[in-house]
Amino acid sequence: MSQRESVWLAGVNDPPRPPLRGQVASGVVVVGGGIAGMTTALMMQLDGLDVVLLEAERIGHGSSGNSTGKVSSLHGLAYTELMDRHGYEKTQMYAEANAQAVEVVATFAEQMERDCGFVRCPAYLYTRSAELVQDIRDEFTAAAHVGLTGELTTETDLPFGVEEALRFDDQARIDVGPYLMGLADLFEKAGGIIHEHSRAMNLDEGLNNVTVTTSEGTVVAERAVVATLIPVFDRGGYFARMKPSRAYGVAATLKSGGLEAVHINVGSPTRSTRPREHGVVVVGEGHPTGTDDATPGRWGELERWAREHFDVDTFEYRWSAQDYTSLDGLPYVGRAGASRRVYVATGFRKWGLSNGTAGAQILTDLFMERHNPWLEAFDASRLSDLASVEKLVKYSANVAKHLVGDRIARLSAPEVETLEPGEGRIVRTDGDAVAAYRDASGELHCVSATCTHLGCTVQWNGAETSWDCPCHGSRFDVDGTVLAGPAVKALEALETHDEE
Ligand SMILES: Cc1cc2nc3c(=O)[nH]c(=O)nc-3n(C[C@H](O)[C@H](O)[C@H](O)COP(=O)(O)OP(=O)(O)OC[C@H]3O[C@@H](n4cnc5c(N)ncnc54)[C@H](O)[C@@H]3O)c2cc1C
Ligand code: FES
Repeated sequence: MSQRESVWLAGVNDPPRPPLRGQVASGVVVVGGGIAGMTTALMMQLDGLDVVLLEAERIGHGSSGNSTGKVSSLHGLAYTELMDRHGYEKTQMYAEANAQAVEVVATFAEQMERDCGFVRCPAYLYTRSAELVQDIRDEFTAAAHVGLTGELTTETDLPFGVEEALRFDDQARIDVGPYLMGLADLFEKAGGIIHEHSRAMNLDEGLNNVTVTTSEGTVVAERAVVATLIPVFDRGGYFARMKPSRAYGVAATLKSGGLEAVHINVGSPTRSTRPREHGVVVVGEGHPTGTDDATPGRWGELERWAREHFDVDTFEYRWSAQDYTSLDGLPYVGRAGASRRVYVATGFRKWGLSNGTAGAQILTDLFMERHNPWLEAFDASRLSDLASVEKLVKYSANVAKHLVGDRIARLSAPEVETLEPGEGRIVRTDGDAVAAYRDASGELHCVSATCTHLGCTVQWNGAETSWDCPCHGSRFDVDGTVLAGPAVKALEALETHDEE
């Protein structure tokens, strides 16, 4: 069973695009080949801008390719929450942008030469608890108020009864890996250039251009779009304005039965479901990044739930992914803070397939100097929301507390020789906090426990054998290599041996 690869990435075997080497010039450099970066690059290239896209790993292998693949404007209780916080206008913009994004995905899917599994289907938000029925009804009312027509029902295609459900028709599901590769094909056909295995390490913003540097090359462009899930080059303090969380997915084949639609419940634990060929996908078990909650038991819980409700034959894939939610609940898309040439798209609150697609349209309109009706809601340069600023202060205080906590934890950390095979822990060696992992063969792997982003102490992720930072969600492999930003530099490698 694959532990790291989602069901959507398993069948994608395209040869990698060559890494960036030497210096190239372009109109736009897009950093990040997920849904936001790839769609932005494609739309801009189609509009005649000259685009180079840099991807640290492979196209789609970030959160996008590890998502559930639902393309929908039904986003949990989003409309109730956004109406409360932001009122009608911005909520209506969010709704319209996401509804429009479903159609954009449909259009690109149609244009692709590969099968990306695009299927129109209903999306359900449901509850099995009488206490949460009112939440669903409120969401129905809020969504209807901003122009999204749903229907309240107790009939779904789920294999159990529900107390109440909100159904949106004409939503969609995709096989995300093939869809992202299909976008890449369209982008290259339009003249765009992709470099994979090209991690951007530095961004310099000059008066007339932006220079992005990888380990082997440089792109000099008029403007840059940083679409790296959380901006790795942060001109707007986004790392402190969003919270990272991880969630887990399993893909099962079924002996009988199955689903047609896509679903998510309200309340806890969250279970997000959708069909796949001869089976189902179940996603859930979310928790903040960099906590003790990251254990293989997360997948076990999803599998137990799946077996309880479906006629499961086997489980073939287990994976996990991360996303960021902004403190005021709206994504950040547009000019990064006061920057003149750097733009971002981030904070998609676990609904980035539609929000990222909408974000691409917003950025393309901005670059083409066209009016975009949703920019005001998504505006990445906003600082105006008082509640958000208050939360920012509280959140920063929590992060600071964490830093202090980390220092105290270092003093009482256990020694390296107590580590069992397969175990990772922060240990103390010569007074330094060391991220130590002993692999199954007994070999010890030690790297500095200090996150290269802003210096918090990383935490062990036992589910995925990685070091995750609780402060802003950077993730590192056991050899210190960056798995996910905002960090761009590896954890320092340390030579550590077992005591004789
Ligand atoms: C478990 C789970 C399920 C989800 N399911 C859904 C769903 O069904 N529908 C939905 O709408 N949303 C869903 N989401 C949310 C969605 O997956 C994300 O919002 C979306 O994928 C974010 O897209 P992105 O392009 O911003 O980031 P990513 O897809 O993560 O892409 C960012 C890319 O940037 C690259 N990168 C990072 N650093 C660098 C660098 N320094 N240089 C170059 N490249 C770099 C990464 O390798 C990566 O490929 C889900 C999220 C989770 C966690
Ligand atoms: S991600 Fe910011 S300090 Fe680690």
